[in-house]
Amino acid sequence: MAQKLRPAHPLETRVLLQGFDEPSSWTIDVYEKKLGGYAGARKAVAMAPDAIITEVKNSGLRGLGGAGFPAGMKWSFIPKNSGKPVYLVCNADEGEPGTFKDRQIMEHMPHRLVDGMISAASAIGSETGYIYVRCELRLAIERLEKAIEEAYAKGYLGKNIFGSGRNFDLTVHPGAGSYICGEETALIESLEGDRGQPRLKPPFPAVSGAFGCPTVVNNVATLANVPGILLNGAEWFLKLGQNTPRSAGTFVYSVSGDVKNPGFYELPLGTNLNVLLNEVCGGPLPGRKFKACYPGGSSSPLLTADEFDVKMDFDSLAAKGTMLGSGAVIVLDDRRSIPEVCMRTARFYAHESCGQCVPCREGTKWTYLMIKRLVKGEGTQADIDKALQACANMAGKTICVLSDACAMPVTSMIKKFRAEFEALARPASEVTPAVPKVSGQLAELMAAVRERQTR
Ligand SMILES: Cc1cc2nc3c(=O)[nH]c(=O)nc-3n(C[C@H](O)[C@H](O)[C@H](O)COP(=O)(O)O)c2cc1C
Repeated sequence: MAQKLRPAHPLETRVLLQGFDEPSSWTIDVYEKKLGGYAGARKAVAMAPDAIITEVKNSGLRGLGGAGFPAGMKWSFIPKNSGKPVYLVCNADEGEPGTFKDRQIMEHMPHRLVDGMISAASAIGSETGYIYVRCELRLAIERLEKAIEEAYAKGYLGKNIFGSGRNFDLTVHPGAGSYICGEETALIESLEGDRGQPRLKPPFPAVSGAFGCPTVVNNVATLANVPGILLNGAEWFLKLGQNTPRSAGTFVYSVSGDVKNPGFYELPLGTNLNVLLNEVCGGPLPGRKFKACYPGGSSSPLLTADEFDVKMDFDSLAAKGTMLGSGAVIVLDDRRSIPEVCMRTARFYAHESCGQCVPCREGTKWTYLMIKRLVKGEGTQADIDKALQACANMAGKTICVLSDACAMPVTSMIKKFRAEFEALARPASEVTPAVPKVSGQLAELMAAVRERQTR
């Protein structure tokens, strides 16, 4: 089901979502005739690839899938004349809890994404593109498939697009709904038909990505920004944000949880979190006070309410020890128990770990189990420190950053709200140990092994 449309908030600047509330905004007729769509792609196919890359570099467009890597720079890493096909992959997995920005673009403005992908493909010399979409986003898949069909019918996709002599084929590839398949190399594995597990880097996808060929993976919002940049120029895009090359453009923030008006809001990148939550989203629920929030999805370290005076951009949040990530602000008010939130967060990562790296497979599960013991009133002080230790042993020690995505928020919750965890801890003499006692044949076997070792 599409979400109910609402008019833009007066503080919103709709660029990605421009035309969002037009009836049938997802059809090619509305996109072209009312919104001037495909003018970006038309311009791109007539430009030299390097000129497109330079314009995107100058605009300051950063990857909006979480890491904020400059888009133009990523495109420039594609080797020229490698003799291999080049693939363009749109990451539409959108699995980060609390995030629903890409979904809005795909459901309401699917042609803007196709438009952006044609331009990006022209820049990197790609003739084949894929949109890897989480399978639960059924309406998005339906509308993207229809949009692609309409674009083929008009000659904007396929052979000799816009009569330019360039070719570009585009396919929607539904993923099975696994969080790890949002990580770009796991996504590529899954696209190839294998189990979605991250690959060791290097080689990076730009050199050896899909099917062993040079590949660019970009987020939906990153690609959907390209038509606007090509039509209005890099300067225009820079000025939409904070007018610095590190914080350009707008961002579609997804706001959920304990706030009066949750939803998605497109605002200049770097809008103050207090403005977003109090002015745009209407503040806390009646009679409640904000306690904390995840500013960038469930992987981001928590900010306490007294840290809300911060700009919502990559660098400002990093300076506060957290991150913009997917821009999903999950708000917690004074009713929430942080240890419970922490337990649910750790459970998610334990469930989604692909199991390939031991520190992640074991660390996420043990972190979850130790926090769960505390929440159930069966844990001790030692469990709090062991959970912190488990987190320290996972971060930065695995192929991808899923383990960091668990360790960072859990560590921040324990450090910032330690008293809440300690209030749940019981004296060690009152609780059973975390590791269950082994009995029966296994116990006998282990005793025999120990005896041999001490002989
Ligand atoms: C566990 C994990 C899950 C991820 N999930 C997503 C996702 O759902 N969507 C996304 O665009 N990027 C996701 N990423 C980031 C991608 O690996 C990659 O950085 C991104 O697609 C690059 O696009 P961008 O440069 O346009 O941001 C995830 C990363 C990790 C480690």
